Amino acid sequence: MRFPDITIAIDGYSSTGKSTFARLIAEHFDFLYLDSGAMYRGVTLFAQEQGLIAPDNTIDPALEKALAGLDLHFAPGTVLYMGERNIEKQIRSMEVSSQVSPIAAVPYVRHYVDERLHAFAAAGRVVMDGRDIGTTVFPDAEIKIFMTARPEVRAQRRFDELVSKGESPVFEEVLRNLQERDYIDSHRETSPLRRAEDSFELNNSEMSLTEEIAWVEGLIRGKFGLLNAPEEV
Ligand code: DC
Repeated sequence: MRFPDITIAIDGYSSTGKSTFARLIAEHFDFLYLDSGAMYRGVTLFAQEQGLIAPDNTIDPALEKALAGLDLHFAPGTVLYMGERNIEKQIRSMEVSSQVSPIAAVPYVRHYVDERLHAFAAAGRVVMDGRDIGTTVFPDAEIKIFMTARPEVRAQRRFDELVSKGESPVFEEVLRNLQERDYIDSHRETSPLRRAEDSFELNNSEMSLTEEIAWVEGLIRGKFGLLNAPEEV
């Protein structure tokens, strides 16, 4: 089925499978996928490498000026680059994960990321995932999805992902990090994580990816009156 040229905003708690789901939507229905969390992770890695964030998460105000010289972009497609350097692996480490929420709470960091997300999405037909996409970045998105799942299910997914990347995580630490991030993300002053009133909730604790894709396809067909449309439009 060829979906209309719309923007799909996917928000939700950490490790609810947002990026896997968004990536699949992009593949299935030929959309551009943009991972906004990767941008916050890229800024965090930058701050760490420049010595602008302390172990106690104190952020040096010099970060604001330094951001003017930071080139973060996706190339090709969904792989994040800092200038010429592919930083995809580094931004997924526990080291970056443990400091990304305080960085993402800083208003000038959010401004930096929002500007770039709008530029990347300028051509339209985009599916973007994050925490404030349906509420702040694209409040007019035609389809908004809010994803949830039980914390233990989410921690297990994150744990498995880290193991598959060769890291040796401790389950309780992964769960704690996830709950801390949920708390900071939901309680910060600027663009906190919250469900947009016009979003559809997807609790995927017990769902397979195939079921999730069927769910979103039904949602879009319903919304755009394509319920009885032939497979190829
Ligand atoms: O989805 P993720 O775990 O890669 O996101 C990393 C962090 O970035 C997460 O702790 C919250 C923050 N984030 C945000 O504040 N707003 C977004 N739109 C996306 C991510």
